[in-house]
Amino acid sequence: RTIELVKTIYEIKQLEDFPEVQIALAGRSNVGKSSLVNKLAGRKKLAKISSKPGKTRSLNYYRVDPDGFYLVDLPGYGYAKCSKTERAKWANLIEAYMKNNHQLRAVAVLLDSRLEPQKLDIELTSYLKSIGIPVIPILTKSDKPKQRERAKLQNQWKDILQQEKAPLCFSSKTGMGEDKLWELFAEYATP
Ligand code: GTP
Ligand code: MG
Repeated sequence: RTIELVKTIYEIKQLEDFPEVQIALAGRSNVGKSSLVNKLAGRKKLAKISSKPGKTRSLNYYRVDPDGFYLVDLPGYGYAKCSKTERAKWANLIEAYMKNNHQLRAVAVLLDSRLEPQKLDIELTSYLKSIGIPVIPILTKSDKPKQRERAKLQNQWKDILQQEKAPLCFSSKTGMGEDKLWELFAEYATP
């Protein structure tokens, strides 16, 4: 598969209805959204990443071929250091993107495998549920915690999400979960 950046959007007024099916990547700042894009693309510098939160400040549409769907890398939420106005602007942009987007087939919600379930993550998943968009839960940085801790967190999230399947353990460092993730994306992106 190949992954190419095709569009970058900074403001609500730039949003457009693409005919392509989309899967978005959402999650707190620094959780590893852009690193996941790079890992799947097999390229280190396709999406800009940073050890400091708040790196991605736009909606980045990546086209996946030969499948023909878009992966949309979103700005992270919960970044305390940026201004209230800026945070509100991103939240509005993300909400405008998710609402009334008939081509949005699922949102991959990235969850930090080192943290207990966070309030903002729970809020996002219940919001998505309320507007009828499937959630693909992913535990990022799964190379960090021990297997036992990951399993505990998987069970906690299973209870919160009331989903049959536990979140997928993924690592951009080791490639853990990569094949399974492609399978999941392909499943949701198939027209
Ligand atoms: P924003 O754009 O700020 O919302 O962040 P993001 O979610 O796109 O995170 P990004 O991909 O920029 O990664 C943030 C930091 O986490 C970087 O220092 C990455 O190297 C690190 N990181 C990402 N994925 C992994 C992983 O699987 N394992 C480990 N150990 N570190 C990771
Ligand atoms: Mg990013």
